[in-house]
Amino acid sequence: MNKYLLLAVLLATLGACGKSGSDASSSGTTSDSAAVKAIDFVTTQDGTPLKIDVALFATPSAKEFLATGKNPYIGNDEAIAKGKKVFQMYSCVACHGGHAEGAVAPGLIGPNFKYAKNATNKGMFETIWHGTNGGMGAKGIGLMDPTDPKNGITPDETLKIIAWIRSMGTGITGNE
Ligand code: HEC
Repeated sequence: MNKYLLLAVLLATLGACGKSGSDASSSGTTSDSAAVKAIDFVTTQDGTPLKIDVALFATPSAKEFLATGKNPYIGNDEAIAKGKKVFQMYSCVACHGGHAEGAVAPGLIGPNFKYAKNATNKGMFETIWHGTNGGMGAKGIGLMDPTDPKNGITPDETLKIIAWIRSMGTGITGNE
């Protein structure tokens, strides 16, 4: 019996990429958060694993991004308009310029990036969330301000900022 169970688990693991609903054998069927399908984030500093509380991915679009690494707000005018506001609110504009074209800090519109991974939305998300070693501070909520765990940008806002940045750019959607 155990042998078959092990085999079944192995097969399920190997072929798992689609639905995850059927292998939630240990915890029943209802627990949403236990079964969250999440991509693996890494830091831009050194590529080590970056843990982000999945509960912060609170909107449908943020959840979709968490599952797929694709930014659903690309090309969405409403999200882009909000992203522009957040870009201004968090002073990105002071360093990167009003059109993300670059100022004291590099431009963000590509096609060339200091960190090549920023051509993807997952990569740019990681950079904004956790910063770099070269003068870009972490902006993710709980990371931006060590004295205030509520300060910083949410995942949903980060995706909107990225959608705005891509809209200023050279045709890169970041979702390829
Ligand atoms: C105090 C100035 C400053 C602010 C404010 C700032 N940045 Fe930056 N940012 C930098 C610098 C400097 C770099 C280059 C980092 C490096 O070389 O490691 C950078 C790099 C980046 C990169 C990577 C660019 C590339 O070519 O790979 C992204 C994306 C980025 N910033 C987005 C943002 C966003 C979005 C905000 C606002 C939430 C923001 N930054 C706020 C200074 C800033």
